[in-house]
Amino acid sequence: MKNILVMTSGGDAPGMNAAIRSVVRSAIHKGLNVFGCEMGYQGLLENKIFPMEASHVANCIQRGGTILKSARCDAFRNADIRQTCLPYLADHEIDGLVVLGGDGSFQGAACLSEEAGISVIGIPCTIDNDIPGTDYCIGFDTARNTALEAIDKIRDTAFSHDRNFMIEVMGRTSGALATDVGIAGGAELIIIPEAPLSAQDIVDTMQLRREGRIASIIVVAEADRPGHTIQLAKSVEALCGTTYQVCILGHTQRGGTPSLLDRKMGSVMGVFAVDALIAGENKKMVASHGSKLILCDLPSASHSTQSFANLNLLELNQYLS
Ligand code: ADP
Ligand code: F6P
Repeated sequence: MKNILVMTSGGDAPGMNAAIRSVVRSAIHKGLNVFGCEMGYQGLLENKIFPMEASHVANCIQRGGTILKSARCDAFRNADIRQTCLPYLADHEIDGLVVLGGDGSFQGAACLSEEAGISVIGIPCTIDNDIPGTDYCIGFDTARNTALEAIDKIRDTAFSHDRNFMIEVMGRTSGALATDVGIAGGAELIIIPEAPLSAQDIVDTMQLRREGRIASIIVVAEADRPGHTIQLAKSVEALCGTTYQVCILGHTQRGGTPSLLDRKMGSVMGVFAVDALIAGENKKMVASHGSKLILCDLPSASHSTQSFANLNLLELNQYLS
């Protein structure tokens, strides 16, 4: 292992910069040459590969987003199109790749391992915290704290004006974010893709819990339909006459200053990934298991049936709320 490449792919996540910094500086410390590629696989197809020095990652650990920029690139799913980048990897004599992203990005990396004959290691990054094989993904902690802060602010208005709110948080197929912020934000109800509720279910539940309550907050995961909470609130109003104002937190949750946990996880996972490449590992992901880091196989297929939310928290919330 002599020359390694690092890139970020898919949705950005706070803490990615800490991981990039860690990969770059630990690789240099261990005698490797490091290259960065801008804009994920889109950038790889356009040969946006450049040598990185320790100074490239100065003053980035506290910044959200990714200094390497990121992209979704559907073309990269096509094996013929992927051939375009093979000469670029060969020109730079790349023999190892660290990809920061989600399981889609790791599937792209697995293809590259086969087709370019390089070793690949993934570092799990997504605010959805829904990558099979790891109990933590970089970005999750910052996002849940960002969402919690927003809920606290909305709660002030809910209380002052006796209003009801539905707050939509991110989470494409996973209610992990909604569950954590719902329980910590004192939500009356948490609605997630793993345990969906109809408008009628919501009306029934809220009527049961309504005694003496004049303002309430419901946390709803966006699932794969960002903005669907607007229609949900209308349906609830049509059924019972209670108005819920909707606040969609959207991409405010993806950016911002990374939390201590995300900077720390980025720092330790980056070093772990470089050590794995040096040890000759390939097609592996750095995974958090309790208080330890381990290497596991790259997650392969779609995981839409797996639940990443802690469903016990939903049950507990029924009597806490
Ligand atoms: P994430 O990495 O967060 O899961 P995506 O699923 O959008 O995000 O994947 C990010 C990128 O990874 C895609 O835009 C595409 O370039 C690449 N990718 C995803 N799935 C595959 C696949 N099956 N084969 C090759 N590349 C893929
Ligand atoms: O995967 C993280 C995530 O933030 C999801 O919760 C959300 O559905 C998706 O990315 C939105 O991604 P983009 O705006 O990049 O299409």
